[in-house]
Amino acid sequence: MADIVESVLQYLDKNESVDSVDLAMTLKVDHQKIVGAVKSLQCLGDIIKADQKTNKSYELTDEGRQVAAKGSHEALVYQAIPQEGIPQAELMKLVPNAKIGFSKAMQAGWIRMDKAAEGGPRVFKKADFIKDTIQECLKKIENLSLDGISDKDTNDFKKRKLIQEIKLTSFIISKGENFTCSISKQEVELTPEMISKGTWKEKSFKEYNFNSLGVMPPCGHLHPLLKVRAEYRQIFLEMGFTEMPTNNFIESSFWNFDSLFQPQQHPARDAHDTFFISDPASAHEFPMDYLERVKQVHSKGGYGSQGYGYDWSLDEAKKNLLRTHTTAVTARMLYKAAQQKPFKPVKYFSIDRVFRNENLDDTHLAEFHQIEGVVADYGLTLGDLIGTINAFFMKLGIKNIKFKPAYNPYTEPSMEVFSYHEGLKKLVEIGNSGIFRPEMLLPMGLPENVTAIAWGLSLERPTMIKYKVQNIRDLIGPKVDLQMVYDNPVCRLDK
Ligand code: PHE
Repeated sequence: MADIVESVLQYLDKNESVDSVDLAMTLKVDHQKIVGAVKSLQCLGDIIKADQKTNKSYELTDEGRQVAAKGSHEALVYQAIPQEGIPQAELMKLVPNAKIGFSKAMQAGWIRMDKAAEGGPRVFKKADFIKDTIQECLKKIENLSLDGISDKDTNDFKKRKLIQEIKLTSFIISKGENFTCSISKQEVELTPEMISKGTWKEKSFKEYNFNSLGVMPPCGHLHPLLKVRAEYRQIFLEMGFTEMPTNNFIESSFWNFDSLFQPQQHPARDAHDTFFISDPASAHEFPMDYLERVKQVHSKGGYGSQGYGYDWSLDEAKKNLLRTHTTAVTARMLYKAAQQKPFKPVKYFSIDRVFRNENLDDTHLAEFHQIEGVVADYGLTLGDLIGTINAFFMKLGIKNIKFKPAYNPYTEPSMEVFSYHEGLKKLVEIGNSGIFRPEMLLPMGLPENVTAIAWGLSLERPTMIKYKVQNIRDLIGPKVDLQMVYDNPVCRLDK
């Protein structure tokens, strides 16, 4: 391409103006390439002038191209005839398009026929030599020249379907105001180096082409759950929360239940509700002094609580399971924060997978993702919890949330969060929340005047609503259609 641009400029240097069609012929390149060179020169300012014009022109048909390459049908017939002649029937089999070739060659007086010959009609050459003007003309037309070709010829060729009329757009090219033979390469990118060295001032930059189509990025596609997760994550980050490390699906009963003041007889700690791990069946490493305080508060109470009054079992606490909520991670993180002296307030969140032994249906699977937020600070109240949850859901575009008293073993008070669903025309539950109990926080070693507010919700429910998925098995699991993942748009919450 650069070569052609240069050739065009060099030609213009020596000539006043030229038709792009003629130039294509002179330079022996395809006309489209000249058009391309003209277009790219036009982007560089007034180097050339190019006035568009539309000419009538002709283009060869497939048959016409064959004639241009191999010769006209009549010439092929003529050439196929040996000196001693040939039976007509044989000749007709020898050449393609023999029928039309034969009659045209007869008309032109190139061949003659002896009808009375022995063994049937026989064909002989009549002319000593022939000139295949049809082939010559078609070759010219192929190169966009009509030199020496009359209207009668072109009409003839059209009738014989060797050529067809086309409109040819060409340019009359001449020197522009800023004509030069040495064009400098145009920059397509402004680099930090050009800015720091100031060299951008001397460079010429390529103009934007706002009409060009973007290239489809050759990248992967995020699953809708991951798109929605990214949005929730962004909201937490905007609110100043830090992400908790949730990369352990297997958890001990101790962190999943005991540390949360959930008694060992609680029905959730049953195999009907929880997946226990058989190998390794139990965990061994615990902060022993803390574990001792947890045992005390369950069995005997303390910190102003009477506890549950039962024989707390270490074996039960050691049992490994697939975590049933990310609140197990929250417990670990609050314990860790409590070891920092002096205590510094924390704001944590997580979005990751949890497992429950559920009956499967259109909206429930045995695993799902939990979104969880927690703030631990001096003197937080129920008002802080309501305000924080309000701010969080406002950022999701959910206004007018309602709270309903609820029960969790580890929070008091506890509140379910409801929002009015326009489609269902009723209040639907969108989350669960509460203030962690002193029986949970004080054994960890948190100062007495520190409270922790927390809330949790599922990632699947808002994703199903956002992407209008009716059955959760269409969203996650072995039945997922990968095309669904490719086709779904980015997630935009109405924030
Ligand atoms: N862990 C709770 C659940 O599984 C959610 C929750 C988190 C509730 C934090 C209160 C506080 O539903």
